[in-house]
Amino acid sequence: MNHKYIEKTPEKIQHLFNLIAPHYDQNNDIISLFLHRFVKKSIVEAITEVTEQAKILDLCTGTGDIAALLKKRFPLSDITGADFSDEMLKVAKRKHKTINFVNADCLKLPFEDNSFDLVTISFGLRNTVSFDKALSEISRVLKPGGIFVHLDFGDANKHADRVFYELVKFIAELQGDDCYVYLLQSKNEFPPVEKLIELFARHGLKYEQRRDYIFGIISAQYCIKI
Ligand SMILES: C[S@@+](CC[C@H](N)C(=O)[O-])C[C@H]1O[C@@H](n2cnc3c(N)ncnc32)[C@H](O)[C@@H]1O
Repeated sequence: MNHKYIEKTPEKIQHLFNLIAPHYDQNNDIISLFLHRFVKKSIVEAITEVTEQAKILDLCTGTGDIAALLKKRFPLSDITGADFSDEMLKVAKRKHKTINFVNADCLKLPFEDNSFDLVTISFGLRNTVSFDKALSEISRVLKPGGIFVHLDFGDANKHADRVFYELVKFIAELQGDDCYVYLLQSKNEFPPVEKLIELFARHGLKYEQRRDYIFGIISAQYCIKI
């Protein structure tokens, strides 16, 4: 596989996701052997402490999987899915007609301070050019006592990592573009979960618990804004 370095700029990231949007769901199924569906469902089901009519924001919503699961789990809540890729949002809107999707950059959110009871971000923070800026925005828009759920790659053991690498390589060779080379690059550059938890704390997001899946390939952390 081509191992060239892909520069991480907002324009490049936006372009990559606009490009893969039509195949994003299908590729996720292949890379995860369909397990991402179960993991996302389990992560949303584990959220217990929000009120029925909560205001919820799903950042980097992509094709809207998490937003849709949240709507199912909390039907009376007011859910917004936000992303800066129009093409991903197009798929999200087509799939989930009752959810409100907006184009927004999570480094500069168009929402008021202390306005959400729950903010989720799934496989998103890793793609931003500044984790600090994104977390500062997340903390700003969350109400004190509000919940932050972060989901992404975790601290996988080396055998699980190898299987994952081979599946991504398969997709990259099949599609012949940079997107899945970038995926491996961004995964390798992403901090381990313990470091992420320290970063969350620096933004007033107090770690409560984590849930690890598929031999640690995926990890979710649950925090409370203090
Ligand atoms: C890997 S996808 C994750 C999609 C979805 N959350 C999921 O779990 O399947 C990452 C998404 O983050 C979005 N994204 C990356 N940087 C962003 C930013 N700064 N602001 C808003 N969206 C961003 C991309 O457009 C893409 O849709």
